[in-house]
Amino acid sequence: MRNRMIAGNWKMNKTFSEGVVLAQGIVDELAGGTGAVDVVIAPPAVDLKGVSEVLNQAGSSVALSAQNVYWEESGAYTGELAPAMLESVGATYCIIGHSERRGYFGETDEDVNRKAKALMAHGITPISCCGEPLEVREAGGHVAFVVEQIKADTAGLTITDPSKYVIAYEPIWAIGTGKTATADDAQEVCGAIRKTLVEIFGAETAQSIRILYGGSAKPENINGFLEKEDVDGALVGGASLKTDSFAAMVKSAMN
Ligand code: 13P
Repeated sequence: MRNRMIAGNWKMNKTFSEGVVLAQGIVDELAGGTGAVDVVIAPPAVDLKGVSEVLNQAGSSVALSAQNVYWEESGAYTGELAPAMLESVGATYCIIGHSERRGYFGETDEDVNRKAKALMAHGITPISCCGEPLEVREAGGHVAFVVEQIKADTAGLTITDPSKYVIAYEPIWAIGTGKTATADDAQEVCGAIRKTLVEIFGAETAQSIRILYGGSAKPENINGFLEKEDVDGALVGGASLKTDSFAAMVKSAMN
């Protein structure tokens, strides 16, 4: 019903030439195909074109994602990138609402919502991130916090193809810390996200939307997450920067 997805968020790592080398390594490692698993890599913006060429030349099924977008079509927005620009270099996905963008750059739920609408108007699939900070988790408010984010981030969205809207649940305290949520922690929140999606979009659509877990996901712990009913894959940071660990996670998802 839902194809699994493994997505690599390179964050602010890899220069152009390093990015091309990493992309080539991933393509080579996965040359045998990835079965029903959708594989996505999200390099920094200046690497997109080079990585796109690597993927195209190899005829690879690995898809390309940007890490951010602005919702206007064009104009005087120095430093920003429009959906059509991402489209023009072959990006078919874009991460939005990552906690690092929310925390360091002030991205709000309203921004995330606008970005999703702008991307979808261009046929680009959002990977829309949500997740609670440590103090909210410790106070037991994590489910309610994430449910509110989902409601705000999806407000007024029309989803005609549920395979083209992806959610990533990334508890902030588990990102880059080596501290993973347990698989049960992930299922608790991903299950609540699914329930919220059912309320908003109806059961049929909600059952086809992928929900990924992110936060110190690595080859050693990926299987536990994948076994959970409402976890459809992973958004991987650190472990996506090495060919072998990223490919190992894809291969786990294929089993
Ligand atoms: P790490 O896998 O490095 O914890 O990062 C997770 C993440 O933020 C992916 O978007």
